[in-house]
Amino acid sequence: MSERVIPLVDQRIPTLSVPAKAFEAASRISPNGLLADGLGRPLRDLRISVTDRCNFRCSYCMPKEIFDKDYPYLPHSHLLSFEEITRVAQQFVAHGVQKIRLTGGEPLLRKNLEILIEQLAALRTPEGQPLDLTLTTNGSLLARKAKALKAAGLQRVTVSLDGLDDAVFRQMNDMDFPVADVLEGIEAAKAAGLGPIKVNMVVKRGTNEQEILPMVRHFRGTGVVLRFIEYMDVGATNGWRMDEVLPSAEVIKRIHAELPLVQLDPSSPGETAERWGFAGADGQHDPSLGEIGVISSVTQAFCSDCNRARLSTEGRLYLCLFATQGHDLRSLIRGGASDADLASAIGHIWQGRSDRYSELRSELGPDTSAPGQRRVEMSYIGG
Ligand code: GTP
Ligand code: 5AD
Ligand code: SF4
Ligand code: SF4
Repeated sequence: MSERVIPLVDQRIPTLSVPAKAFEAASRISPNGLLADGLGRPLRDLRISVTDRCNFRCSYCMPKEIFDKDYPYLPHSHLLSFEEITRVAQQFVAHGVQKIRLTGGEPLLRKNLEILIEQLAALRTPEGQPLDLTLTTNGSLLARKAKALKAAGLQRVTVSLDGLDDAVFRQMNDMDFPVADVLEGIEAAKAAGLGPIKVNMVVKRGTNEQEILPMVRHFRGTGVVLRFIEYMDVGATNGWRMDEVLPSAEVIKRIHAELPLVQLDPSSPGETAERWGFAGADGQHDPSLGEIGVISSVTQAFCSDCNRARLSTEGRLYLCLFATQGHDLRSLIRGGASDADLASAIGHIWQGRSDRYSELRSELGPDTSAPGQRRVEMSYIGG
């Protein structure tokens, strides 16, 4: 008798279907710029994952023990094609999306990504504006690709970098990848005009907290915006523990003790990062010294105005980074849905949204659900 093997780590099985009323004449939703979810939040930001693979194994995201050679990555036929992605993205833009971020895994591993960028760069908002088109990368391939990305129409990049010390960085990426190559990638992005460049550092207490000040000293006054991210309990494989979170307030305190900071106003509603500027001798923000940011999803949730939707590599729409299930848009696209059908489906799904996981985290506690009902991995829906 053969035993049925259930892969412990494949959280991608469950899908939510699209509400049937999305396709009924009386209840169709056409894009009119007024779309809001169940908590009154608009849809402004779409994050598109273009691959679930990565050449790094950061322990907080793709721990090596789980993401090994037997991990069930998506087969190529499951991925949305560039044409499919652009078609869906167009309907999101019609509903009010103004920013598109390409993510992964590592998005630069997706072949011919420049072609997708060209297609997305041609989209216009209902007001005729181009999108804020950006990409999150680990920087490993950036030195090679920066110029071509810019030429294709990418506006800016955000690079993940968890420390400047080579030994610490090699340990964090767990692939023995040298920090010098990522720094070279950042320089290449700058030279190509892919700014303002942001650098995201996930801070783990006891692992890379000693890198906070060297990172600040390195990037201060360079035009690069360095942001510190609280280590999150995203996914179900990273063994997250609250005692490894270094609260942003502590990060700010440590920096401020050496390099005085002043808090800045948010630059747009629903923003993830709280902004702090470096003060000059007069105690005021000195723009030539630049700014840093802190992203405090654990200690100061920012769900109340979260306007972000996530499209997985295989075309599932996730309404929260901590969701367990996504809505299957690929079957709609491949089933012959019209653009109006797609727009109505997106409208209905967004209207039904009430997710605010980070705000509820303290009440919910750690994820102890059975496999198959667990939160999706960040490598699958992107940061
Ligand atoms: P900018 O437009 O460049 O300011 O980017 P952003 O801050 O909107 O996006 P980015 O992907 O750089 O976000 C940085 C990090 O914040 C991510 O890697 C996540 O760790 C975290 N993050 C982003 N969006 C969310 C969110 O909706 N919820 C939570 N809890 N964390 C988020
Ligand atoms: N906590 C916080 N941020 C994370 N990222 C991935 N996993 C986590 C986590 N557990 C973010 C990092 C990385 C981006 C791709 O995803 O910012 O730069
Ligand atoms: Fe790869 Fe980014 Fe995840 Fe690290 S955080 S494993 S670089 S996708
Ligand atoms: Fe948005 Fe979910 Fe993040 Fe809250 S936890 S900010 S709802 S993605």
